Amino acid sequence: MLKEAVRGVKKTIRDFDLKGKRVLIRVDFNVPLDKNFNVTDDNRIRASLPTIEYALKHGAKIILMSHLGRPDGKPVSSMSLGPAGKRLSELLHREVMQCSDCVGPGVKEELSALNGKTDVALLENLRFNPGEEKNDAGFAKALSCNGDLYINDAFGSSHRAHASIEGITKYLPSGAGFLLEKEIKYLGRALQNPKKPFVAILGGAKVSDKLGVVENLISKVDKILIGGAMAYTFLKVQGVEIGGSKFEKDKTDLAKTILEKAGRNKVEILLPIDHVVVQKVDENAPSKIEGPSISTGWFGVDIGPKTIELFCKTISTTKTVVWNGPMGIFEMKPFAKGSYEVALGLSKLKGCTTVIGGGDTASCVIGFGLADKMSHISTGGGASLEYLEGKILPGVEALEDK
Ligand code: 3PG
Repeated sequence: MLKEAVRGVKKTIRDFDLKGKRVLIRVDFNVPLDKNFNVTDDNRIRASLPTIEYALKHGAKIILMSHLGRPDGKPVSSMSLGPAGKRLSELLHREVMQCSDCVGPGVKEELSALNGKTDVALLENLRFNPGEEKNDAGFAKALSCNGDLYINDAFGSSHRAHASIEGITKYLPSGAGFLLEKEIKYLGRALQNPKKPFVAILGGAKVSDKLGVVENLISKVDKILIGGAMAYTFLKVQGVEIGGSKFEKDKTDLAKTILEKAGRNKVEILLPIDHVVVQKVDENAPSKIEGPSISTGWFGVDIGPKTIELFCKTISTTKTVVWNGPMGIFEMKPFAKGSYEVALGLSKLKGCTTVIGGGDTASCVIGFGLADKMSHISTGGGASLEYLEGKILPGVEALEDK
């Protein structure tokens, strides 16, 4: 049953008899590939395994579908789902049939070969067809002909009203897979029914990216900790010298409004009190600690030790934390300490629900080897942001009510 922060109560894969059925599962295998077309981060593929394994155990034939990249409605060989299928086959320890397309008589024939030995197929990249992103009804119907029922397990794509996410639900019985259910459960509970104190940690480059999230969370959280480059816009409006640090000049009014709104809602906003500063963004550039002000010619690339202490002390007594956006340029080792220490602080909390937004924050927590210490790491970048902004995701909304 899928009910957290969703209009209506949605069906899930558990609500269907799968035996002998062709189950069409929308997954999000939009994964990064290296120049030799190897999958460099298979988390999204791993995250789809519980649903696939459940359907196999219950005697279904499985037809998976996904997009990869943005090929713009035409076939682009470098964006084939072949490498993702290969990785899935390794993880499942069974053959995965790679289809040559996603709709049409050729695919129908390929799928007719699904039998007891090979019972998992992966359609080719949905976005090779212009109908996918246009949510074209004809394309959605053609996709639906590949299965008897439809399961959406692609949380990362559920903010897109595309044919394989939204349109297809008009032609088949539909429900959520386990990944979608888990994502909505954790993100939804944080928004709807958080145990208090509830703290949001926000970071990343731009105030504008997180604006909707701040606006939605401000009436729900007790404190907001802000790090990353977006902190400099807030410090600037408070009159703190930020040296050459990046800030969004056109977003200063917005930052002011957020601070005022937080004040009215009695939400404390904590900004960095010191910073790791450099004169050049280079891992080997000399750095020093300054704060709260930053000297001319220097700019912040991570939060400093006093801020780490302040942030970690603040989260130590919380019961719910949502973290979206790294504290510094974590991709460069010398500037990753702030993000690492915050992740480590979260990993040690007992009795606290820790929800990590997708994208960069997920990569950084996974990279630090702390993923299994968090309650939930979202597989969605844009989707988790939109969900935290309080938007209804079309891919969830479209599923059948129970
Ligand atoms: C993602 O990686 O966020 C999802 O797969 C959606 O991809 P898109 O932003 O290209 O729609």
